[in-house]
Amino acid sequence: MSLLRVENLSIHFGGVQAIQDLDFAIDAGTIHSIIGPNGAGKTTLFNLITGLYRPSAGAIYLDDVQIAGKRPHDLARMGLSRTFQNLRIMMNMTAVENVMVGRHLHLNTNLLACMLRLPMIVRGDRAARKRCIELMDMVGLGADIDADAGTMPYGALKRLEIARALAAEPRLLLLDEPAAGLNERETKEIDDVIVAVARSGVTVVLVEHDMKLVMGISDHILVLDHGRKLAQGTPEEVRNNPAVVAAYLGNV
Ligand SMILES: Nc1ncnc2c1ncn2[C@@H]1O[C@H](COP(=O)(O)OP(=O)(O)O)[C@@H](O)[C@H]1O
Ligand SMILES: [Mg+2]
Repeated sequence: MSLLRVENLSIHFGGVQAIQDLDFAIDAGTIHSIIGPNGAGKTTLFNLITGLYRPSAGAIYLDDVQIAGKRPHDLARMGLSRTFQNLRIMMNMTAVENVMVGRHLHLNTNLLACMLRLPMIVRGDRAARKRCIELMDMVGLGADIDADAGTMPYGALKRLEIARALAAEPRLLLLDEPAAGLNERETKEIDDVIVAVARSGVTVVLVEHDMKLVMGISDHILVLDHGRKLAQGTPEEVRNNPAVVAAYLGNV
């Protein structure tokens, strides 16, 4: 049984068909990448899976339970967590406080209420803090627990976001362009983090443009183009797919 399965999924915004009749499945325990040019529908697909958008047609199953149309915090409780393409770090908090927000956000839809409760949470919940520190270790930020987020470099903040998403204890983690804007060394750090996350038993779905990262790390790749599936398969199969080679001018 697949962990996540999408069937005949479509969404349109006015005349824009952002996802069209899409089918795919993701097995538990794999690293799965979604690639495609800007505007292909990758982020829209994440928004559909995480309940931010309601599909125009089709179905999404998590463990064979239909989840399309469920609310984001219900999906978080069911084991879905994500990062966003743009950084969403609270710069006026410490690193570990940002991670603790992730731990409590899935219990509370209201970000502001969550932030207001934070001092109480930080004092009152030693076990939660301990787990958040473990997660910061996993993303290579063990030395930055009490650092002010505002002073941390961009590459570290991208890893902090992964720790925050993991703090909700997901089974399925969706990462939207985790290496965007990173240099080669920082991208390698993200690569190591994704491998560590997958080894810890969390299934990872990655949207990413860095082909070296994608080709090196993925068990399976889905290629989107204009909201449709252009190709799918192992990195080797995708790299040798004539439609993909044509769309990317061979640069895969
Ligand atoms: N909320 C929205 N309202 C209108 N159009 C949208 C919305 N979200 C996405 N789109 C459109 O859907 C298409 C796919 O966008 P997106 O999923 O962000 O692409 P990608 O992440 O692959 O670059 C684009 O044409 C985009 O403008
Ligand atoms: Mg996007």
